Amino acid sequence: MNLRVMEKEDLPLFADWANKPEVLGEYNPLHQMSKTEAERIFEESSSIKPFIIEKKDGTKIGFIFHFNVVHTATGTNQLEIGYSLVPDERRKGYGTEALAIMVDYLFLSKDIMRIQAQTDQRNMASQRILEKAGFKKEGTLRNNFFVRGEWTDDHMYSIIRREWKEPKILTKTA
Ligand SMILES: CC(C)(COP(=O)(O)OP(=O)(O)OC[C@H]1O[C@@H](n2cnc3c(N)ncnc32)[C@H](O)[C@@H]1OP(=O)(O)O)[C@@H](O)C(=O)NCCC(=O)NCCS
Repeated sequence: MNLRVMEKEDLPLFADWANKPEVLGEYNPLHQMSKTEAERIFEESSSIKPFIIEKKDGTKIGFIFHFNVVHTATGTNQLEIGYSLVPDERRKGYGTEALAIMVDYLFLSKDIMRIQAQTDQRNMASQRILEKAGFKKEGTLRNNFFVRGEWTDDHMYSIIRREWKEPKILTKTA
């Protein structure tokens, strides 16, 4: 499995995935995105960094991204991540591997102390891969997102640099 920075030629597929509730999963907010909008996000937003998850044979099976959450009062930036796999490729270990690679990459390449992720409290798959990657549950954000007609309670997870300690998959010379 490989993580590759998303290129412009991936945009039609990315926009297609972003418009499919079955790819985003039952706990993600519905947000219909035109290819033009996907392109705009890709070209104008310096905050969202999407990566394509590919199998060894090059098949594109999902995406994982990081973005900044700005605490406007202090100007502090938190780094947050999100991910989705196409339904047929779930429960095969790809989510676990993609997340471990992303955590290694972020701690190796950025001067950050913490990576965070928010997930619906019912989303067991997401919570499991976070825990396997060393994230810890910090607490619950009540009525946090409006998803399919209801306000959700979400768990905030994080991993901090001293817990990560060293790369699990990537090497420092990679
Ligand atoms: C979340 C997601 C990326 C997980 O990736 P995945 O490749 O399916 O997960 P893995 O195969 O690596 O499984 C990791 C662990 O989670 C468990 N797991 C996977 N799916 C599960 C499910 N639906 N319910 C309970 N546990 C599940 C696996 O059994 C495994 O645990 P184990 O190692 O103890 O046996 C994937 O389910 C997905 O794309 N979901 C839809 C999008 C989504 O919800 N994104 C997150 C929004 S916060």
